[in-house]
Amino acid sequence: MNFQRVFGTLPKTHASAPGRVNLLGEHTDYNDGFVLPSAIPQRTLVQIGFSSDNRHHFYSAEYDELINVSDDDTIPQKFVSYICGCIRLVEKEGYKIPPINLYITSNVPIGAGLSSSAALEIATLRGLRALFNIPLDDLKLAQIGQLAEIRYAGLNCGIMDQMASSLADTNSMLLIDTRTLKYRALPFPTGTEILVIDSGETHKLAAGSGYNQRRAECEAAAQLLGVKALRDIDEPQAVEVLPEPLKKRARHVVTENNRVLEAMKSLPAERFGQLMNASHTSQRDDYEVSTPAVDALAAILQETRGVFGARLTGGGFGGACVALVESTKAGVIASEAIARYQRAGYTGRILVPQVQVNS
Ligand code: GLA
Repeated sequence: MNFQRVFGTLPKTHASAPGRVNLLGEHTDYNDGFVLPSAIPQRTLVQIGFSSDNRHHFYSAEYDELINVSDDDTIPQKFVSYICGCIRLVEKEGYKIPPINLYITSNVPIGAGLSSSAALEIATLRGLRALFNIPLDDLKLAQIGQLAEIRYAGLNCGIMDQMASSLADTNSMLLIDTRTLKYRALPFPTGTEILVIDSGETHKLAAGSGYNQRRAECEAAAQLLGVKALRDIDEPQAVEVLPEPLKKRARHVVTENNRVLEAMKSLPAERFGQLMNASHTSQRDDYEVSTPAVDALAAILQETRGVFGARLTGGGFGGACVALVESTKAGVIASEAIARYQRAGYTGRILVPQVQVNS
C-alpha cells in the first residue's frame, strides 16, 4: 500500500517525528519536575493531501486500517484519536483545517514505552504546519500534542514525550524543566552509548490504567504536603508524614527528581549508571510501575559486563529497558543480554541500536 493506492491522488506534503527514550526522570514530568530523554532513530512518517469529500480520511499502514471522520463525528478510540485531537486543537488555535487524507507509516514500536503516540502527534502537527503555513513553533506543537493526548486519548500525561519528539535529537539528552518548559541539550556521559531492549510485555497506559491513578496519587500527596507540586519537595524525609501508598509514590518522585538534578552535572558514566539503577529500584518498589519481566531484563542488563546502568524507561506497566553502555559495544552487549533473557523464559527485542535489515 502507499498514499496513491489508498487515496487515488498524490500527497501534497510529508513530515516525520521520532520516538523517544528517557534516560532518567520517570513520572516526574506531571509533578513539574526534571526529565532527561533522547530521541530514538525510529520515526513516524505522515503524508498529507486534500480530501475530495467533506471528511478526513486516515490510513495506518501498521494497522492496515482506513478510518473516515467528519467534523461532528465522535472520535473513535483508535490511532485516529491522536490525529483528530491535533486537528481539532490546531483549529482551536484559530487555523481552519479543511478535510485531509493522511497516510501513516512508522517504525516506532507500539506499546514499548517509546512514545509512538507522541511521534504520531508531532509528525501530524509538523505536516499540518507545513501544508497550511501555520506559524506555531516546536514547543507549541509539543503543547498541542500533549493536550491532544489528554483530551482525546484519555491519558493524563506530562509533556516529556511530546517535547522530546519535537525538540530532541539522537546524539544528546534533552534536559527539560517541565515547570518552566526551559530545555537544553546535554552530551551523553563520555565513552557511552544507549541500548534499548523491549521486554516483550506490551504496556497500555490510557484511560483506566495505573498511570492516571499514579498521577492522582501524586497530586493528593502534594496537596497534603501543602505544595503546588512534588517538584517543590527536595528532602526525601519530608514525605515520611504521608499515609501509604502516597508516601512511597512521593518518595519515588522526590528521589527521582534529585537523581536528574545530579545527572545534569556531566557525571562520569559509572555514577550516571548508578543513578539509573537506583531509578529502576525506585520505580519497582516505590512507584510500582514495573513487572516481573521488566525486572528480570533490568537485572540481566545491570549484571552484563560493559553496562553502566539500566532501568525501565517510559510510563511502565511493561515496555522497554534502557541501558547506558560502553561506546561501540551496544550491539554485543544487547545480544548477550537478550540471550540470557531468553534463557530466563522471556522473549525480548533489541530496539536500539537498530538492527540493519538488508532487503
Ligand atoms: C508516559 C507519559 C509521560 C511521562 C512518562 C513517565 O510516557 O506520556 O508524560 O509521564 O510516561 O515518565
